[in-house]
Amino acid sequence: MNKVQQLYEGKAKKVFSTEDPNLCIVSYKDDATAFNGQKKGTILGKGAINNRLTNYFMQLLESKGIPTHFVEEINDTDAVVKKVEIVPLEVIIRNISAGSFAARYGVEEGIVFDQPTIEFSYKCDELNDPLLNTYHALALKLATPEEIATIEKMAFGVNDVLKEFWASVGVTLVDFKLEFGRLPDGTIILADEISPDTARLWDSKTGEKLDKDRFRRDLGGVEDAYQEVLRRVLGK
Ligand code: TMP
Repeated sequence: MNKVQQLYEGKAKKVFSTEDPNLCIVSYKDDATAFNGQKKGTILGKGAINNRLTNYFMQLLESKGIPTHFVEEINDTDAVVKKVEIVPLEVIIRNISAGSFAARYGVEEGIVFDQPTIEFSYKCDELNDPLLNTYHALALKLATPEEIATIEKMAFGVNDVLKEFWASVGVTLVDFKLEFGRLPDGTIILADEISPDTARLWDSKTGEKLDKDRFRRDLGGVEDAYQEVLRRVLGK
């Protein structure tokens, strides 16, 4: 499988077409941004770590019956994925208060919820990814009611699988963001990435942050945290 043409460059990944119209190649970058690109930097080795981690989790989720875009890993930073039309929603699941939830509702970080929450943002950099509810998503025709129901069910299913997995390697899954895509026949599948860029991961014993918050908040030890996450997963 070869890269034919670059279709898209995002903040952390590039997407290329291939000889097969149904497949793309995703290439993970070391570039890191935060606050909608206002803060920029590099996390050495991140591209390879996020590629490896995402591919691991996509395969784990497939084995648990959740359809994903993953096809195969082709080198350190690149993977072949099914071509989808991305549903322009960022789907965020939270098990514990943190980040924008804590800020928005004026609560401390670390409150364990009785049940997970789900929220949607409109995936639109120009508007700063505004929060929206199901009615707004329908009004904007971002997805159909059936698609939103499927996405919610799959997102909670992903949470069940990932929470249990992370707990087994001594990591608490605080929250994470997912994106979904449509295959040509309309089937909804999990797309994008699952990595310390898109999840909050706290060491279960020490509470140490092992994710991109180290970069967002200038906590230092960013590369070490990504390496540690990879070690935990590969040690499994
Ligand atoms: P938040 O607390 O800033 O809303 O973030 C919730 C989760 O979503 C957190 O795990 C980080 C992830 N996230 C992304 O993957 N991309 C984004 O652009 C943002 C804002 C958050």
